[in-house]
Amino acid sequence: MENVLIGKDTTLNLRMGITFPHGQAPEEVQQKPMTSAEDAGQSLIDQVIAATGPKAHPRLAHIMPSLVRHLHEFAREVNLTIPEWMAAVDMINECGQISNDRRNETQLLCDILGLESLVDELTSNMLANSNAGSTPSAVLGPFYRHNAPLLPNGSSIVKNLTPATPWYSQAIADSAYITGRVLSTDGRPIAGAVIDTWLAAPNGLYEQQDDFQTDMNLRGRFKADKDGRFAFYALRPTAYPIPFDGPAGRLLTLLDRNPNRPGHIHFIVSAPQHRALTTQIFDDRDKYLTEDAVFAVKDELVVKFLPRKGDLKARWYLEYDFVLDRSG
Ligand code: BEZ
Ligand code: FE
Repeated sequence: MENVLIGKDTTLNLRMGITFPHGQAPEEVQQKPMTSAEDAGQSLIDQVIAATGPKAHPRLAHIMPSLVRHLHEFAREVNLTIPEWMAAVDMINECGQISNDRRNETQLLCDILGLESLVDELTSNMLANSNAGSTPSAVLGPFYRHNAPLLPNGSSIVKNLTPATPWYSQAIADSAYITGRVLSTDGRPIAGAVIDTWLAAPNGLYEQQDDFQTDMNLRGRFKADKDGRFAFYALRPTAYPIPFDGPAGRLLTLLDRNPNRPGHIHFIVSAPQHRALTTQIFDDRDKYLTEDAVFAVKDELVVKFLPRKGDLKARWYLEYDFVLDRSG
């Protein structure tokens, strides 16, 4: 704020609560006086912020002045026109109209702007007890379902796979055994940690998007054993485009952007006395790793599947440990 707004204009400085001895601004803040348009813009920002009443919700009273300032400065910077602003209003309205309990288009819009990834990172940093060595988080995304079946360690989350399944041969080629441990940041295994996992089928669809798949296909919860170890059969993940038939998809087209997410498997790993971890792992073979439509890829989450020998149920093998931060 200092650089842009503070000139020698004493009235402006007074309005902003800034005073200088001898009425002279110090060298480093001496700038060109504001033009009258800039002055009017600052005055409008000040008026909107000053309209906040004394009984305002404290967190909102902290957040909103910054939002107002950035919004106004953005509109001014790009010379936003009425038709452009109206197009954005229509778009946000349409996001609401198209959303329901299976689809959250406003969240998707935030995702393609990187906002969910940013807020996930900020929240995770804020709650971190010790940042040393815990597995990084990644966005939850809109396809999580509560109460996935609790399955015995070592069982499969691939349901009803038969030669009639349209993506049968791909599922066989990508069949994978996934195992690892859940550890605390001090290196100790966490017996009884719960690993909740879900992924899209080789046709790029989650089961709730696809009439062909059975309920809760490619979803499961597992309990880590006394050594903190979990294991299950699944598939190597496939890249898929995010839902593309709404305003978020249209925006991607207008921006000439890739709508795909690299193949990934979602996890929520939880245990008593530890902060639950929401994350994803990404297959290193994927061509979209460097252009995730929702900007969730982190180096530590990129994994390498290895060929698996002597197991008729899996062609691939992955070992990956999750490290949870202690809570409180
Ligand atoms: C997902 O990975 O499921 C996802 C995340 C953000 C937006 C769309 C999909
Ligand atoms: Fe996903």
